[in-house]
Amino acid sequence: MLTSSSDSGSARVSGGVDVSAMTWREYHGITKHSVASLRRAPHVLDWENMPDPFRHYERVPVLDLPADPPVPKTPALEVLNGVSGSGAAADGPTFLSQLLFYSAAISASKRVPYTGYRYALRVNPSSGNLHPTEFHFLTRGLKEWPDGLYHYRPSAHMAEQRALGDLGMKWIQGSAPVTFVLTSIVWREAWKYRDRAYRYCLHDMGHAWQALAIAAHAVGCDTFAVGHFSDDEVAQSCRLHEDEWPMLVVHLHGRSIPVREPYAAETVWYGGQANPLSRESLAYPRIEAIHAATKVSNSRRHDTPAAEPASTGSGEIKLPAPASSSRPYGEVARMRRSALDFVGGMQSMSFAQLSAVLTVATRPFSADFAATPFIQLYLYAHRVDGLQPGVYRLWQGRAELEQIKSGDQRVQAAGLSLGQDLADNACVAFSMIGDIERAVHAHGDRGYRYVHFEAGAIGHRLYLAAEALGLGATGIGAFYDDQVHDYLNLAPEQGHVVYHFAIGYPVPDPRLEA
Ligand SMILES: Cc1cc2nc3c(=O)[nH]c(=O)nc-3n(C[C@H](O)[C@H](O)[C@H](O)COP(=O)(O)O)c2cc1C
Repeated sequence: MLTSSSDSGSARVSGGVDVSAMTWREYHGITKHSVASLRRAPHVLDWENMPDPFRHYERVPVLDLPADPPVPKTPALEVLNGVSGSGAAADGPTFLSQLLFYSAAISASKRVPYTGYRYALRVNPSSGNLHPTEFHFLTRGLKEWPDGLYHYRPSAHMAEQRALGDLGMKWIQGSAPVTFVLTSIVWREAWKYRDRAYRYCLHDMGHAWQALAIAAHAVGCDTFAVGHFSDDEVAQSCRLHEDEWPMLVVHLHGRSIPVREPYAAETVWYGGQANPLSRESLAYPRIEAIHAATKVSNSRRHDTPAAEPASTGSGEIKLPAPASSSRPYGEVARMRRSALDFVGGMQSMSFAQLSAVLTVATRPFSADFAATPFIQLYLYAHRVDGLQPGVYRLWQGRAELEQIKSGDQRVQAAGLSLGQDLADNACVAFSMIGDIERAVHAHGDRGYRYVHFEAGAIGHRLYLAAEALGLGATGIGAFYDDQVHDYLNLAPEQGHVVYHFAIGYPVPDPRLEA
């Protein structure tokens, strides 16, 4: 059942905005946090109506993915730096199991003291642990695995077989033996974050994409992500439930994929019945409007075929040689967690560790929207040996830091992140500033999605690099947008803050199990 949300008004006019013609700028402006906006619209969570974080397509054959697939042993930092892993699986089921075990599976659980309530955590992080992202995949010619369309069931590490045979999906370019379709169920996030939830779904999508791309690389293959596709065509051809919106198509290729000779097979559709996620789903017209505005059919591409290059500059501080780590990728990916908080105090990270983290975070991405980066990193350095406390802008092309402000930034960093201590007790916190104007100039309003995908993808690399180096990390989606711009002296044309992040020494979380 779909009912109207309390804060979004009617489908056409919401909060004085005609949502039928909403642009990215209006959506972004309306969903900014400020002290006043938070005070104006307090939100009480309806726990009885919390969406199920697990989607099942029921009444379809379910295929086992082998438990405990081989551990990719190449050091995580090397994988993040572009080294291709080895030890590929011998057959399709093991290959798929490896990919998903290291990119989307359950990896731990937490138990709430007093109530005893236990909930699952996954390899990929998610704002509020609400997990809007679903993993679907199409296979063609995988060894010992029937061609078809599948949906990953993380709760049991199994594949739901939604269709068999060559499905003739015209939007799949080339001959990739495996193509993932990553979808978002925005209601899962909107339940908690309301209109701002679309932003978080896009970040989560960026994390999931990178989790998949890095897992693929760790087992010796490459990926290419496609953001420019017909939303409705992909949704219809995969027969997605209407609450699932396709966001990214990721093709896998490379010699390590265990393939067989293709053979013609009859097409059989099982489809499956999607489980209802909650008693009722509230409608969020502003989210529907921004999603519609960023569809390829509506997203006017301007004359520029590719994004102009990012602006360049320089800084007075050269990044030192990056620190190394031999921790295997398999261990790092499964152990990654978000820190609840960091220890603060005097414990610092080295400048070489920071350099390692920044180096991997800013390597190029393999995607049709990633010819030039849209994100620039600003750092609030609190405790980094050899780097004075202050705010710095990273000029990634030159691997240089430019000092913007000097002095202790801890109070400001936490204040800008909605008062979260994480950003103060960390060794370093980040503001990711997205050049949405340039992205939209190149890709139409669809560019709004791409900037957030890139931010989430950078965040995922930060998580893994931090974990590899014995540190911890946390993505921070909650910040006071305009205060960040003011604090960093950013003129509107210099970009918009889209994501915050923090890295440091995590405090132990007593709720964590396994
Ligand atoms: C886009 C995004 C935004 C997040 N924002 C916050 C935040 O503002 N504050 C916070 O404490 N954690 C934040 N997190 C961390 C999540 O709460 C965490 O990923 C989730 O609880 C699952 O835990 P795990 O990362 O250990 O698997 C964010 C994570 C993501 C991916």
